[in-house]
Amino acid sequence: TFARSFSATAVRNKVNNVTVIGAGLMGSGIAQVSANAKLNVVLVDSNEGALKKAHSSIESSIKRVAKKLHADDAKAQEKLVAETIGKINTSTNVGDSVKNADLVIEAIVENIEIKRKLFAQVEEAARKDTLITTNTSSLRLEDIGKNLKDKTRFGGLHFFNPVPVMKLLEVVRHTETSDKTFNELVDYGKSVGKITVACKDTPGFIVNRLLVPYMFEALRLHERGDASMKDIDIAMKLGAGYPMGPFELGDYVGLDTCKFIMDGWHKQYPDEPAFSPSPLLNKLVDAGKTGRKSGEGFYKY
Ligand code: CAA
Ligand code: NAD
Repeated sequence: TFARSFSATAVRNKVNNVTVIGAGLMGSGIAQVSANAKLNVVLVDSNEGALKKAHSSIESSIKRVAKKLHADDAKAQEKLVAETIGKINTSTNVGDSVKNADLVIEAIVENIEIKRKLFAQVEEAARKDTLITTNTSSLRLEDIGKNLKDKTRFGGLHFFNPVPVMKLLEVVRHTETSDKTFNELVDYGKSVGKITVACKDTPGFIVNRLLVPYMFEALRLHERGDASMKDIDIAMKLGAGYPMGPFELGDYVGLDTCKFIMDGWHKQYPDEPAFSPSPLLNKLVDAGKTGRKSGEGFYKY
């Protein structure tokens, strides 16, 4: 059914059809802002339950956006919610969902082998002019896209959580990303209302290169027994003006994602103490306490 909602044009003038793969925290937000910009969206996940969950989280998020935009107009609010939801189709089939895509955005688990497998599937099924991108937090595009045959159409679109609220989009190019691809990705970013910054293919890009080591330092500070999680969070909010402290932010990002980043960077930079394994983080993730999304992480929700 979603194929019918896509425009039939074979040659892309601009991005109209977006396929988002991974319907978790990030993919659902990316689907929402794309649909809100009147693009046709297919949201894909291998897990049917994740698609159901994404549907309800998109609905409650777009309701918040609509309430803000049309404070005194219930009809306009309903219209925005219905129109946005109406632009999103869901699927569990990667091959079918990318066939008509102008742009594919990958937002699955932060694991290089799983991402590589997915990109091989995407390139095989997509058109020859489809833009192929990743929302990776910490991996290098060069590593993720190693097996792609045409790397000129491959780039990074790094969104921030919560996607409907955070204004920034990092647009990442690796050595082979073409100027045309880069410019089209910037145009897409603007079309979904984001302010874009450009960054080369360096681990963590701009924001995470600075933010993630800070979050890991907070873990070390706590693990050494120097201060409680609560006091570190209060200190960084009231002393440094951050909207959330580092432990609140870890829970918000997802502790499994934090651990994937830490483990990946530890493997890449084994001599860097900031990236060596954290007993607390490992214990929580092993127990399934992955943060807000599971109801418990550093804190209970
Ligand atoms: N959907 C839609 N709107 C939302 C929303 C959502 N999911 N979450 C919050 N909002 C809106 C609210 O409606 C509210 O709007 P108004 O103030 O205009 O009414 C506004 O955002 C503020 O929300 P709240 O009052 O509920 O809560 P808050 O003031 O504590 O803000 C927050 C929430 C925006 C998340 C804020 O705490 C914040 O900015 N936290 C830090 C987030 C951050 O650093 N993100 C980056 C993480 S790192 C990353 O993403 C990269 C990576 O690769 C790991
Ligand atoms: P998440 O765990 O909330 O969601 C990941 C989703 O991907 C799950 O629903 C899972 O079922 C699905 N999935 C896994 N493998 C799949 C496959 N092979 N095919 C289809 N679907 C598959 O994760 P998230 O927080 O949304 O993160 C997704 C990506 O975005 C990661 O690369 C992460 O590093 C990055 N990122 C996360 C944040 C954040 O704050 N959480 C911010 C920016 C970027």
